[in-house]
Amino acid sequence: MLRDSLGRPLRDLRLSLTDRCNLRCSFCMPPEKEFKFLPRQELLSFEEMEMVVQALAELGVKKVRLTGGEPLLRRHIENLIEKLSSVEGIEDIALTTNGFRLKEKAKALKESGLKRITVSVQSLKDEVYSKIVGRNASVSELIEGIEAAIEAGLSPVKVNTTVVKGLNDEEVVDIAKFFKKMGVIVRFIEYMDVGTLTDWDISKVVSGREIIERIGVQMPLEPIPPKDGSEVSKRFRYLDDGLEVGIITSITQPFCRGCSRLRLSADGKLYTCLFAQEGFDIKEMLRKGADRETLKEAIKNLWKSRKDRYSEERFSKRAEGSKKVEMFRVGG
Ligand code: GTP
Ligand code: SF4
Ligand code: SF4
Repeated sequence: MLRDSLGRPLRDLRLSLTDRCNLRCSFCMPPEKEFKFLPRQELLSFEEMEMVVQALAELGVKKVRLTGGEPLLRRHIENLIEKLSSVEGIEDIALTTNGFRLKEKAKALKESGLKRITVSVQSLKDEVYSKIVGRNASVSELIEGIEAAIEAGLSPVKVNTTVVKGLNDEEVVDIAKFFKKMGVIVRFIEYMDVGTLTDWDISKVVSGREIIERIGVQMPLEPIPPKDGSEVSKRFRYLDDGLEVGIITSITQPFCRGCSRLRLSADGKLYTCLFAQEGFDIKEMLRKGADRETLKEAIKNLWKSRKDRYSEERFSKRAEGSKKVEMFRVGG
């Protein structure tokens, strides 16, 4: 089995379909900053993505998560999902979205082979939500998208909420309650120092432990043992109905030790960490006519030399001031 220099296998791919997004979240693409998006010819075609996924599946990848930017902005995404669904070895295809196109897209996504979906919901209040996503937006539209996903049979539907102190942390219990009633799994994410454009600092982080304690006071919980060592989320369940709720604690309890995730950006660069400084240009190889065996060889070498564990080294790395890839290029 292919393992990196710290003994971690390659199991998951996070595939970014576009760097564009219709929102401007403060913890990703702050509205006051200027962005230059990739020109069309720089984006990998679906055929190119399929070739990379075939190579990766032969190296042990089983799960593909489609991300962005906002992946539903990529036209004909259903065609890609169909292609990836038939790649031998790929057992799970999921998608992370901001939810705005979900109402119109949910059924077609399900029919094309998508299994499950995760929707980012940062607040239940229009005013707070609009402030966080940098434009006027209606939460009820977002909820309609989530309902459409449930109706279409995408399962499970999950919600991701990034918690930022002073912005939405007072809503944590309300968000948990609201989605509990809908039977939707929520994961609360500690605010991370992704990219170089946000105003992250540690005082804006609410720890996962505090979040889960606040929820547990009102709705008692118990921990769920991890399924495998590569899980991002620490899972809990409500004692009354057994529904799951999770925390993603990249800041206070890093999970690099089990990290089996490789990332492919929309412009064809492979990144071995969410906080990587540089990517490996696989598009250039593809466009020079590399066959699958050659791609596999290059990926093997990349993975074998991987030693990333940014979240475990965060504070020393930050002190060095190293430059990082932006999150909207490689997916969260
Ligand atoms: P499931 O397969 O549904 O459990 O999803 P997942 O655990 O892969 O989680 P998801 O893709 O929804 O990611 C949730 C959030 O966790 C992302 O938006 C990121 O904020 C964070 N995250 C995911 N992968 C990593 C990672 O490798 N490193 C760090 N530091 N954070 C990550
Ligand atoms: Fe868009 Fe997601 Fe970034 Fe928000 S976090 S700007 S929805 S890509
Ligand atoms: Fe993996 Fe990097 Fe996240 Fe650690 S910080 S879990 S190595 S992506």
